[in-house]
Amino acid sequence: MTTMIDLEEIQTFAVQLSKKAGQAILEGSARRFEGLSGFDEKKNTADLVTETDQATEKLVKDEIARAYPHHKFIGEESWAAGEENQLTDEPTWIIDPIDGTTNFVHGFPFTCISIGFVYRKEPVIGVIYAPFLEHLYHGLKGSGSYISTPQHPAPRRLPLAEPLPLPSLRQALVAFEWGSDRKSDILAKKLRSFQRITGDSDGGVEGGQMVQGVRSMGSAALNFANVAAGSLDLYWEIGCWAWDVCAGIVIAKEAGCAVVGSRDAALASLSSSAAEGQRFNDIPPELLTGRKYVVVRAIADTESETGVDAQKRTIKTFYDAVDEWDP
Ligand code: IPD
Repeated sequence: MTTMIDLEEIQTFAVQLSKKAGQAILEGSARRFEGLSGFDEKKNTADLVTETDQATEKLVKDEIARAYPHHKFIGEESWAAGEENQLTDEPTWIIDPIDGTTNFVHGFPFTCISIGFVYRKEPVIGVIYAPFLEHLYHGLKGSGSYISTPQHPAPRRLPLAEPLPLPSLRQALVAFEWGSDRKSDILAKKLRSFQRITGDSDGGVEGGQMVQGVRSMGSAALNFANVAAGSLDLYWEIGCWAWDVCAGIVIAKEAGCAVVGSRDAALASLSSSAAEGQRFNDIPPELLTGRKYVVVRAIADTESETGVDAQKRTIKTFYDAVDEWDP
């Protein structure tokens, strides 16, 4: 079964599927603003699910089952309903029908469908479609990643411009998210981390990295896509799930980004002699499902440093500045 796999064909199918899902999201939004559909809270008031999340996941799941009956499926809403399929060597779709559900509920346009495809436990295809913006990102392992927009319908390769150097975090536009866990111990760690990311060490903020700016767009998938495009320099989050990031990981890696997981695994992977540990920029299953992610854009080589060494330096500096916790 797995030897017959045609990744190009699957990518084409995933792109078409993302457009169908995008249409369902737009229709769901219209119904929502006519007062015809609502939303529920999951863990708390900052963790939402709508009828459109569920309907879109059903649509996508059914289409995949029709086209690829032997493939496995892991989806946010199926998981929430108790179908906790684990990652195996089988071809597996990992899907978030609406990434950015809070944005969807509020009509803030950074909402997308995120379709990842994993082959032998490795993410190999990623499609992210943001229907309000009509931004389509897609990537296939070894073939690059691309964006199409209404202004530029022909796919353009990512990153969109030649990568620049990144001498320090002071030149960086960084994304992080507030997440739905706001309990005091976790929030204290988040706030301490946010302070060190943004604060001015010359103005008394100990360990302050004073990044140029920060963004919280409300969609992990679109954060990954924007780091891939080069319009964000770094994105960090603890707490999102494999379906939020699977597609983004492929798109980012194909655009020359570095993707790492938890602090210990990331720092271990930075040393080139980590022959027995995790290799830098590899995505083992424990990273994909590990709920801790840092992604850094492609960085140009300079006379004194390769782009990969600059990515490693950036990850080390960033991890020295932030706290870590278990979601
Ligand atoms: C969430 C969004 C959000 C991120 C959360 C995700 P959802 O996904 O990506 O930006 O902070 O970690 O769970 O709930 O909108 O599918």
